[in-house]
Order: sequence, then structure tokens, then C-alpha cells
Amino acid sequence: MSHDAIVLLKEDHKTVRKLFRQFHASGSDKGDVVSRIIEELTVHTYIENEVMYPRVRELVPDLEQDILQSFEEHHVADVLCSELSAMDPGDERFVAKATVLIENVDHHIDEEEGEWFPKVREALGRKELQEIGEQLLQTKEKAPRKPSEPGALRKAVDAVIG
Ligand SMILES: [Fe+2]
Ligand SMILES: [Fe+2]
Repeated sequence: MSHDAIVLLKEDHKTVRKLFRQFHASGSDKGDVVSRIIEELTVHTYIENEVMYPRVRELVPDLEQDILQSFEEHHVADVLCSELSAMDPGDERFVAKATVLIENVDHHIDEEEGEWFPKVREALGRKELQEIGEQLLQTKEKAPRKPSEPGALRKAVDAVIG
């Protein structure tokens, strides 16, 4: 299996988008699929915040603004995920909020895959991307799986300020 950072992150995106399709295809009972979306996003956002974004920021200074914007987009997704995870699926706002989350993340993934991941691949060598990939996998093991777990929300803010 490839440990290339971009390949690994794109695999996560595929998983998330499959869940988005399940959300749209499922009927009135969307609670379970939303829980799985929240879990996938919590882990994925964490490893990007902890590893991918800081490393790219350091190694490819030209992408500084893309990284800063991506941190902000993660922050919006974090807020929506933590509100959703505290909400009853029967709440009249539940599906609306989940739909806004999905629209935001869809757009965010498009920007990563279409705009700045290709620039990262151009700027970094295969070996560097493998090393970052190894770090992503290690960090995944200790990543929070729910927005309520320590580190899930705070890290995005720390990464920007610190
Ligand atoms: Fe991201
Ligand atoms: Fe991503």
C-alpha cells in the first residue's frame, strides 16, 4: 500500500464522499450516517491539522494562503460537527445542518484536490510525500474520533495561532 500523503488523504475523501451519497440516498433516518460522517471528518481534519497543513506550510511557503484558508474551512466544519453530534436526529434543524456541513466539506475537498494538492505534489519529492504519509498514518492511530474528545476542536485554533 502506498504511503504517499496525497494518496492517503484522497482515500479518506473518497470514504467521506461515499457517506455523503448515503446521506442523500437514505430516507428519514439519517442519524447513523451522520454519526459516521462526523467520525470520519474528526479523524481526517485532525491528521490534516496536525501533520499535512503544518508540513506543507513549512515546505511550500507559496501555499501559505491556501493553508490558512483551509484551516478556517476546517474550523467551520468542526463547529457544525460538534453542534450536530450534540443534536437529536429528530430535531427539525438536523438534516439542514448536516446538508450545510456536506456542502462545505464537498467544496473544501474540491479545493484540496483540484487546487493545492497538485501544487504540493509538484513542489515535494516522492520521498517527502512518503514521509508525510507515514506521519499521517501514525497520527491517525491516536486521533480523536468524536468532536467531544480532547484535542478535536482545540487543535485547529492552536495550529493557526501557534
Ligand atoms: Fe482539509
Ligand atoms: Fe482533506
